[in-house]
Amino acid sequence: MTTWPVHAEITGPIVMIGFGSIGKGTLPLIERHFKFDKSRFVIIDPNDSGREIADRHGVSFLPMAITRENYREILRPHLTRGGGQGFCVNLSVDTSSLAIMEFCREIGALYIDTVVEPWPGFYFDKSAGPEARTNYALRETVLEARRKNPGGSTAVSCCGANPGMVSWFVKQGLLNLAADMGDKGAEPKSRAEWGALAQRLGVKGVHIAERDTQRAKHPKPQGVFVNTWSVEGFVSEGMQPAELGWGTHEKWLPANASQHKAGCGAAIFLQQPGANTRVRSWTPTAQAQYGFLVTHNESISIADYFTVRDADGKAVYRPTCHYAYHPANDAVLSLHEMFGQGGRVQDKHHILDEHEIVDGIDELGVLLYGHGKNAYWYGSQLSVEETRRIAPYQNATGMQVTSAVLAGMVWALENPKAGIVEADELDFRRCLEVQTPYLGPVVGVYTDWTPLTDRPGFFPEDIDESDPWQFRNVLVR
Ligand SMILES: NC(=O)c1ccc[n+]([C@@H]2O[C@H](COP(=O)([O-])OP(=O)(O)OC[C@H]3O[C@@H](n4cnc5c(N)ncnc54)[C@H](O)[C@@H]3O)[C@@H](O)[C@H]2O)c1
Repeated sequence: MTTWPVHAEITGPIVMIGFGSIGKGTLPLIERHFKFDKSRFVIIDPNDSGREIADRHGVSFLPMAITRENYREILRPHLTRGGGQGFCVNLSVDTSSLAIMEFCREIGALYIDTVVEPWPGFYFDKSAGPEARTNYALRETVLEARRKNPGGSTAVSCCGANPGMVSWFVKQGLLNLAADMGDKGAEPKSRAEWGALAQRLGVKGVHIAERDTQRAKHPKPQGVFVNTWSVEGFVSEGMQPAELGWGTHEKWLPANASQHKAGCGAAIFLQQPGANTRVRSWTPTAQAQYGFLVTHNESISIADYFTVRDADGKAVYRPTCHYAYHPANDAVLSLHEMFGQGGRVQDKHHILDEHEIVDGIDELGVLLYGHGKNAYWYGSQLSVEETRRIAPYQNATGMQVTSAVLAGMVWALENPKAGIVEADELDFRRCLEVQTPYLGPVVGVYTDWTPLTDRPGFFPEDIDESDPWQFRNVLVR
């Protein structure tokens, strides 16, 4: 494509907070797809390694950290200068999504982020119990803000690849499955109808099933955490408790699982770090594989969104939902090294850019399982080669995220008074229409694999043979 569709106009200033791997990749997409005033576009990041890129694109760069103390004072002038409706694109670590989102709504600016990020200290606060460090708790703060202050300027919460795009894949995947299973129902139009469809099709759960095969040119050096996206972001979420949306078909609860007393009630957490928790899953390239059950917002929001309740409010249907992430091989080695050292994070961090990768794809999709056709994976198989051809400053992992940010921004501009929304609530068709040119092959594949395939092996195992899709069979113990 040489001419890019301009999807919308941003009438006010743009403030991008954080210019790391995702911020850098998002900049060229904003340039391509929106009409806006470049003289009012500012990037704020304390690390000025991205300044040269900002200069090249004629965008101002403010080398400073947004903090609890300064965010209002710094953001207000930059988001209101020259009139129109400002847009805050938060792609940083260590800034509170909730605080910044609420401030943007106060001044009438649009807002988007890719994670519910807290102020620094949250993830590694040993005095807070595991429950306080969950994504469930973080998400509840956003839901509470919405209850207190419904409507108003649109703030899109958690709109990256996952959380984000995968919520749109779940809906498209369900429709594909419905067609293949001969379901005659009309396309769902409301949350209740989506829940009813998933229930009718017999979907017991959803894995956010990912295999990143991107290979580095140089082997991982000892003592360096290598990843294809934020090391800080990955380590933070990886050290949180493993969390999953807890389905109504589950018959067995792990001994170290805890339930929440307050909130939506859609999820449980385990008293162990997610990046040290393995689950059995499946993607088309890997076929059967181990993934890490790292906590993610979408594990909770998808389970919550598809919950069907009876007249008394009791959940009568909910899919289990969790991440099953096989990151790039170097990241797997990095985790092994980190946990081997008692969880002490390596001093050196490195994000592989697109020039440091020989080849590989980020295969990221949703595995809808437990229904009449066993399991169906629907997702993107974007390669680094294709990524290099379509947009600068990013690898395949990054582009799945940046293009979801683009789609969420388009939706916000087209729906500027929607209040606080999660990716599950956006128009999935419109979002995928905007995003798909950046996703490489998007495919749907059925498999007859189950977590009981080839088991038990040489040793007796604690498995439930009456239902292959029990979490008891999925969790590696
Ligand atoms: N939803 C998704 O699919 C998805 C995927 C990848 C990343 N993410 C999230 O996106 C965010 C960015 O990821 P990334 O890979 O670009 O990370 P990164 O580590 O490459 O970049 C983060 C940037 O934030 C900056 N920063 C740190 N403190 C700041 C502050 N106080 N104010 C302003 N900037 C600050 C850092 O200097 C850095 O440049 C992370 O929160 C990550 O978890 C979400």
